[in-house]
Amino acid sequence: MSMTTEFSVRPITPAIGAEVTGLDVRNATKDDIAALHRALLDHCVLVIRDQHLSPPEQIAFTENWGPLVRRIATDFLHKDYPDVLVLSNRVVAGKAEGATEAYAGFTWHADLTYAERPSMGSMLHALEVPEEGGDTAFANMYLAYETLPEATKKRIEGLQAIHIRDRRKNPRAKITKKEGFNHDIDKYFDIKVPDSLHPIVTTHPETGRKVLFVNPRFAVGIDGMDDAEAQPLLDELFAHQIRPEFIYRHKWRLGDLVFWDNRSTIHLACGGIKAPGIRRLHRTSIAGEIPA
Ligand code: SIN
Repeated sequence: MSMTTEFSVRPITPAIGAEVTGLDVRNATKDDIAALHRALLDHCVLVIRDQHLSPPEQIAFTENWGPLVRRIATDFLHKDYPDVLVLSNRVVAGKAEGATEAYAGFTWHADLTYAERPSMGSMLHALEVPEEGGDTAFANMYLAYETLPEATKKRIEGLQAIHIRDRRKNPRAKITKKEGFNHDIDKYFDIKVPDSLHPIVTTHPETGRKVLFVNPRFAVGIDGMDDAEAQPLLDELFAHQIRPEFIYRHKWRLGDLVFWDNRSTIHLACGGIKAPGIRRLHRTSIAGEIPA
């Protein structure tokens, strides 16, 4: 028999996000995991406060939701625990200690939608936080779908978007050194990965609710539709999906473990870390299914 720990789940905004307090995830029971899972489905993003996780502890907690998925670019994977991606703006001996927002997140996205099987969910754990800047924003894609005009819903029914990894081929996700991409851009993006097609409207496999499943970081076109028609339609969807009422903007506190459902949300690294502030986060991602 497994007992539930007394922890609290409190909604943060009416649209998205809940704060979880009173739980040390290292001691989470089976029932706690089930309660967290239910809360994730209800709120799409969980901010679990006051955690102190080593990489193996974060990996073990994440594995409650399935096998982990690794980034194909190995540059910023933790050297001892490659299932952990290090995000950091610290520069050590002229070299970036981890991925900056430029590599991981400065255009709205859900994780790995360029792949045939995008990530089911991801977790970020805050190990160092700056005084100012470095927030992460999340938007609810159930609400984005539900609030589309009926004519748009009809128009996108049955359509598939083309998702690609290579930023160099995506005018909406252009990179420059100034934005912090201080690396060999060609080496980073020359890794060959097939593009993927995903329905623009998916059905969440657990809640059965419809989701607007596109994002400007990876979706660059619509299968079988000329760009003259497809690009304005994508622009309309991308503008709609980030209406302020769908968004929770998370200001990081030390020890936060933020867990989001990639199947029902998109997110953005907001940037703007004020020097000399350092933001260091560890990310783990869970493998997912083919969206349908
Ligand atoms: C990410 O896109 O996974 C990272 C978000 C962030 O750096 O705030």
